[in-house]
Amino acid sequence: MTCRVQVSETTEEAVRQAADAIVRILRDAIEERGWTSLALAGGRTPRPLYLQLAQPPYRTAVQWERVEWFWSDERPVPPDHPDSNYRLAAETLFAELAPPASRIHRILTELDPREAACRYEATIRSVFRVGPPAIPRFDLILLGMGADGHIASLFPGTAALEEQDRLVVANEVPQLQTTRLTFTPPLLRAARAILVLVTGEEKAPAVRDALEGPLDPQRLPAHLLRQAEGQVLWILDRAAASQLAGHYGRRGSSQPSADRG
Ligand code: 6PG
Repeated sequence: MTCRVQVSETTEEAVRQAADAIVRILRDAIEERGWTSLALAGGRTPRPLYLQLAQPPYRTAVQWERVEWFWSDERPVPPDHPDSNYRLAAETLFAELAPPASRIHRILTELDPREAACRYEATIRSVFRVGPPAIPRFDLILLGMGADGHIASLFPGTAALEEQDRLVVANEVPQLQTTRLTFTPPLLRAARAILVLVTGEEKAPAVRDALEGPLDPQRLPAHLLRQAEGQVLWILDRAAASQLAGHYGRRGSSQPSADRG
């Protein structure tokens, strides 16, 4: 596993850095295998990133029709609901890039959450042509991080943190009084690349803990990324990085303590 941390002065610059990294990773994957697999993040942070990718020069920088589009988690709402992670991508990315519908793999939230998780896992295995017990390796999984250190919908103290076999589960989140659909630690760990985009002052304590705190994934789920098999790239704006003790350059020249085990 390689972990790099890039700190940008502004949120806008962090978004550009993230867009550049996504284009680089997806282009390399398409060149190598003829297609690529991308799992999108939800929440508020990715919106400007998705809008950026849908604009020049990014909109013509990737053969977007060769991307298999997935989501690393989803809320239990209809696809047209304002809180839907699918809707976020549909109205920012797909409205402009218009990828083939057959390559857009929405989590079927109209189903019972457990059924939706099983169906999504089967879809992932079918697209990757990878049967159990092997774990499909996403070319890129995009993540944000909550102020509590959650990633995808792996929240502190929730059952999904312990999942070691399934790829996707319905995770009860008492903190939100809801059940979320989420990639599991094994699926995250197997990714060739994970990009974590975190911006804003309110995330600074969690960023410090995630990169420099003692390993404790139950308390701080982002610590799971220290067990990733592929490359992990943290892209932060100055505000989110403001409580870090280490010195992380624009190009991620420093390795965070997380990488020192
Ligand atoms: C979601 C996301 C989640 C998100 C964090 C940060 O469905 O909410 O996948 O993991 O990345 O909650 O959310 P913000 O970007 O809104 O701060």
